Amino acid sequence: MTTKFFLLSFSLLITAAAGAGGRWQVLQKSIGVSAMHMQLLRNDRVIMFDRTNFGKSNLSLPRGICRRNPNDTALKVDCTAHSVEYDVASNSFRPLMLFTDSWCSSGSVSPNGSLVQTGGWKDGQIRVRLFEPCSTCDWVEIESALTHPRWYATNHILPDGRIIIVGGRAQPNFEFFPKIKEGEGSITVPFLDETKDAVEDNLYPFVFLNVDGNLFIYANNRAILLNYVTGETVKTYPTIPGGDPRSYPSTGSAVLLPLKVQNGTAEEAQVLVCGGAPLGSYNKALNKGIFLDALNTCARMTITDPNPRWTLETMPGPRVMADMTLLPDGNVLIINGASQGSAGWDLGRGPVLNPVLYKTENPAGSRFETMNPTSIPRMYHSTAALLRDGRVLVGGSNPHKGYEFSSVLFPTELSVEAFYPEYLNPEFSDVRPTVRAPKSQQVVGYGQKVQIEFSISGKLAAQSLFASMICPSFSTHSFSMNQRSLLLPIDNVVSARNLTFQAQLTMPSDPNLAPSSYYLLFVVHQYIPSEATWIRIA
Ligand SMILES: *[C@@H]1O[C@H](CO)[C@@H](O)[C@H](O)[C@H]1NC(C)=O
Ligand SMILES: *[C@@H]1O[C@H](CO)[C@@H](O)[C@H](O)[C@H]1NC(C)=O
Ligand SMILES: *[C@@H]1O[C@H](CO)[C@@H](O)[C@H](O)[C@H]1NC(C)=O
Ligand SMILES: *[C@@H]1O[C@H](CO)[C@@H](O)[C@H](O)[C@H]1NC(C)=O
Ligand SMILES: *[C@@H]1O[C@H](CO)[C@@H](O)[C@H](O)[C@H]1NC(C)=O
Repeated sequence: MTTKFFLLSFSLLITAAAGAGGRWQVLQKSIGVSAMHMQLLRNDRVIMFDRTNFGKSNLSLPRGICRRNPNDTALKVDCTAHSVEYDVASNSFRPLMLFTDSWCSSGSVSPNGSLVQTGGWKDGQIRVRLFEPCSTCDWVEIESALTHPRWYATNHILPDGRIIIVGGRAQPNFEFFPKIKEGEGSITVPFLDETKDAVEDNLYPFVFLNVDGNLFIYANNRAILLNYVTGETVKTYPTIPGGDPRSYPSTGSAVLLPLKVQNGTAEEAQVLVCGGAPLGSYNKALNKGIFLDALNTCARMTITDPNPRWTLETMPGPRVMADMTLLPDGNVLIINGASQGSAGWDLGRGPVLNPVLYKTENPAGSRFETMNPTSIPRMYHSTAALLRDGRVLVGGSNPHKGYEFSSVLFPTELSVEAFYPEYLNPEFSDVRPTVRAPKSQQVVGYGQKVQIEFSISGKLAAQSLFASMICPSFSTHSFSMNQRSLLLPIDNVVSARNLTFQAQLTMPSDPNLAPSSYYLLFVVHQYIPSEATWIRIA
């Protein structure tokens, strides 16, 4: 097959998934810890954690271990866990030990597959915590690893393998981890000061690595393109239409839409920002108990355009604190959140139980489709993550200072559930590919032509075949850091024995497109994805 089929295949998304609905399943009624932060690792285990400064969780540490931290602001001796490892395959979990406070922190997976979590509050604010993906591993903390306190910051993996940590409360600057030279400090970004309003609507900025190697940073109601090597702003984008804030605490969400890679390269990148709260919403909720309707718009922009402009689209309803998750079929799932109020303790109302599918390639005006609802409100401090099997794992929701299970509007949620997009329906089993090669954890090179093998039990429609490569993200506060999807054409398809096909993929040739990391590789046939196989690009 040649690449022209690939172009054709994108236009077919228009007719795909008509009458979608999806379904829900509660996986665990309680994992004992509310999943404020979530990250899938390459061993199909999901690391989840909350904060440590509020008292006991509902999960004991193993073997009678207790955390004895005189600097904890609530319990000096705490024998409960504030982090868990959830094993997708066995639907089981185990407690993990966090020593210092990881409240409202940030994270990234480094190229070797370990989770690097940065900052938090008080005794945790300049810490880095590492978690190696292994079934007996636990958190290892590095003291004084950051130069500045990082609370509500955003991380991104860089083409050189380092992690950039952007902003945070009262920190209009960025720094890197690991440091490469002695005394390496932070670099100031005036934009992060300029976008700070009365309620600091510029926290947890939406940060994406652009295809040109610069960083796109969205905060409050506008964005810049930053050269992080020099600290210079290389482009200033227009203010979002309407001018209302979209970042924390007026929490909307954002994704870098799938990059279409042809012959190893991609010239274009688009960003989609959805929901948020109108200016003043946070203060009205906090001081007056008035819960304003959330914003009901998304704004989309080609950030690589010489004259970029936002285009506004209207969602089926208002939404604040939603998560946006890239699906392997190229669409975006908008999930979790509320219809009124703002992020912050007890400031959200009107849970939105229906996810909404955003069909990226449909014409404007026909992109949104409402999915079947869950029964569990996922308000402030909820999370979502794509799994290797194509489900979306959902957890968290705790709008309170501590764990509250009664006499509150939205009790602390310790449950985890999965949303099954319609592509997982059994009626698509004839169409769904099964990937035979590459084998799990195969290392591929930049620009390399990689042989793949997959089987399909029904008839192959080669014109509707592509691969998607997704970088699992660190989800917290309605933003998924490092979330990235690359769509690759599948070339030279030949029918091998039986129902098996061999074909070729050309990997991205540039780490600006795909920083070295572990990715989920899905084969997508007629918009029905396979289970992914893990690959590592290096
Ligand atoms: C958590 O523990 C508290 C106190 O023991 C209990 O009241 C509550 O029902 C538990 N919640 C869950 C979801 O297990
Ligand atoms: C508690 O904080 C003090 C002051 O920052 C520090 O010197 C000490 O090592 C901390 N204790 C622990 C157990 O981390
Ligand atoms: C993985 O990378 C991180 C970040 O560079 C580093 O701190 C950690 O030690 C590495 N882990 C291993 C097992 O090499
Ligand atoms: C694909 O890229 C390679 C290396 O960048 C180049 O040599 C080749 O001509 C390109 N092929 C097409 C069809 O664009
Ligand atoms: C085709 O598949 C069947 C059933 O899995 C198997 O018995 C047979 O040996 C396969 N034939 C070839 C040529 O691989």
